[in-house]
Amino acid sequence: MKFFIDTANLDQIREANELGILDGVTTNPSLMAKEGIKGKEAVMQHYKTICEMVDGPVSAEVLGTTYDEIIAEGKELVKIHKNIVVKVPMIKDGIKAIKWFTDNDIQTNCTLVFSAGQALLAAKAGATYVSPFIGRIDDSSWDGVQLIEQIVGLYNAQGFMTEVLAASIRNPLHIVRCAEAGADVCTCPLPSIMGLLKHPLTDIGLAQFLNDAKSMQ
Ligand code: G3P
Repeated sequence: MKFFIDTANLDQIREANELGILDGVTTNPSLMAKEGIKGKEAVMQHYKTICEMVDGPVSAEVLGTTYDEIIAEGKELVKIHKNIVVKVPMIKDGIKAIKWFTDNDIQTNCTLVFSAGQALLAAKAGATYVSPFIGRIDDSSWDGVQLIEQIVGLYNAQGFMTEVLAASIRNPLHIVRCAEAGADVCTCPLPSIMGLLKHPLTDIGLAQFLNDAKSMQ
């Protein structure tokens, strides 16, 4: 399973990248706004900076919702860097646009996916990635990981090449369960990635080893 970081914060991207386990980055308009980025030029420059930091796919989301707007924005975004993936919402015009991008060798990430039916349509249109939002599904008292399992099963049964990118990750257990479910990619906030490191017995064991090592000096 590939690890992407789900943020537009450059310090967090740098920290995850320095671990050596980062395969890519996803952003969305909320994450960009959180960093205080304003205006088209600043947005484009921010994507460029991220692409220069991480050697892997960087999802940049379109803001338009009509076919023409999505195509025009996608064309602009892919000019920024070869690693840009155009992130397109799961709407009717979004699916039409994903098909156009597929036919023109432009990578896409179909976002805001909450059902297997939506994932099926994204794959039919040739999306490179499909992003089910598992945390938001959990928030509505369904099991988001079950949706990952369903989509992985569906894609395997039908031989679709679209990669299942588990998004809206809220904790380290989500990451482990998505790996078990066969997700191709998990895009995670930094604290969830760092949470994978933690176990109190590791800390206790290390403290004991270091203490005992003193007697060897
Ligand atoms: O990037 C999309 C997704 O990961 C958003 O997560 O926490 O806002 O549901 P969240």
